[in-house]
Amino acid sequence: MRYRDKGPEHMRTGIYGAGSIGCYVGGMLAAAGQDTVLFGRASMGERLARGITLTRFDGSERRASPDSFRFATDPHALAECDLVLVCVKSDGTRAAGETLAAILKPGAVIVSLQNGVSNARVLRECLGQRSVLAGMVGFNVAQIGTDRFHCGTEGEIVIGTGDGAQAFAYALNTAGIPADISPEIESVQWGKLLYNLNNPVNALSGLPLKRQLSTRAYRQVFSALIREALAVLKAAGIRPAKIGKVGPNLIPQILDLPDWLFVRLAAGMLQIDKDARTSMAEDLERGRPPEIDWLNGEIVALGKTTGVATPANERIVALVKAAFSGEGPRRYDGQELKKAMLV
Ligand SMILES: NC(=O)c1ccc[n+]([C@@H]2O[C@H](COP(=O)([O-])OP(=O)(O)OC[C@H]3O[C@@H](n4cnc5c(N)ncnc54)[C@H](OP(=O)(O)O)[C@@H]3O)[C@@H](O)[C@H]2O)c1
Repeated sequence: MRYRDKGPEHMRTGIYGAGSIGCYVGGMLAAAGQDTVLFGRASMGERLARGITLTRFDGSERRASPDSFRFATDPHALAECDLVLVCVKSDGTRAAGETLAAILKPGAVIVSLQNGVSNARVLRECLGQRSVLAGMVGFNVAQIGTDRFHCGTEGEIVIGTGDGAQAFAYALNTAGIPADISPEIESVQWGKLLYNLNNPVNALSGLPLKRQLSTRAYRQVFSALIREALAVLKAAGIRPAKIGKVGPNLIPQILDLPDWLFVRLAAGMLQIDKDARTSMAEDLERGRPPEIDWLNGEIVALGKTTGVATPANERIVALVKAAFSGEGPRRYDGQELKKAMLV
């Protein structure tokens, strides 16, 4: 276990945005006896009135009893926290940063546990001199039933270097969440973003991740999105880190393989619970806005600044926005999606 000797005697951790990631991470900390405050919607507070159930793909289960954490609908409950984990979707980051800037005590550390590559920067703009760390969550969490948060894949949390990083990594590791610190967190975030380019494909498939990734036509769309992203990143001089077992440049070739070969050679990519889906698929189902501008939209934006064309990512952004607004289909089978991408 890393960073075992680096934990402070007492640390209060706050969650800003108790949803899938916030309740899983906060619930694991609380279940391990750590002082934890969750800030979120009243409806979530009602769901968690009897505690939080935390399950994992390996069959293990933990329980955070209702008296092991505090749930608040007023962000002032986070005022005395030493560490605050920002777990809202990217469209809520600036509001989170502005709220936290007004209430946090001096010395409190803020960590973004969000996808994308720009959230920590936005938080720093709001939070001035405070220590704001970027984080990368490498596993998938889904909300199941009333109070269960299920981690459906392997993966760790990687945190950037800075004040508070070791204390947070220690807290996570002792709570049973693998964590590491990286001096190259931006490369790590870009490496994760390559995988997140599949989020719109998964949402538009209407299928669990495992079934979607087992279908070549969907994988070919995903592969085209990554190829384009790799060209953009190269032009921008950004080297995405290797996340998981396959290096970034090999991912598109593996995704393009026929199904029979893919399931043999890429077994690791399919080590996902049969029901796991991306959070963008959940957003489509629940009528919440998609995080697409912070994922594929980042590739489109960087393509514009580097002069590299990004038709595939532009197209998937448009298809997702149409699906979410009701102006386009919400479901495509693999061949339909490939065809729609060519228009
Ligand atoms: N889920 C995953 O498997 C996963 C994995 C890796 C990374 N991530 C990233 O982690 C971040 C969070 O994702 P998530 O899936 O946990 O999202 P989520 O389930 O939507 O959780 C965010 C929660 O924060 C609440 N919230 C937002 N603004 C609030 C406010 N002002 N006051 C109180 N509550 C507020 C939301 O409520 P409303 O919905 O009512 O606004 C929601 O319950 C995203 O950047 C995502 O890409 C997710």
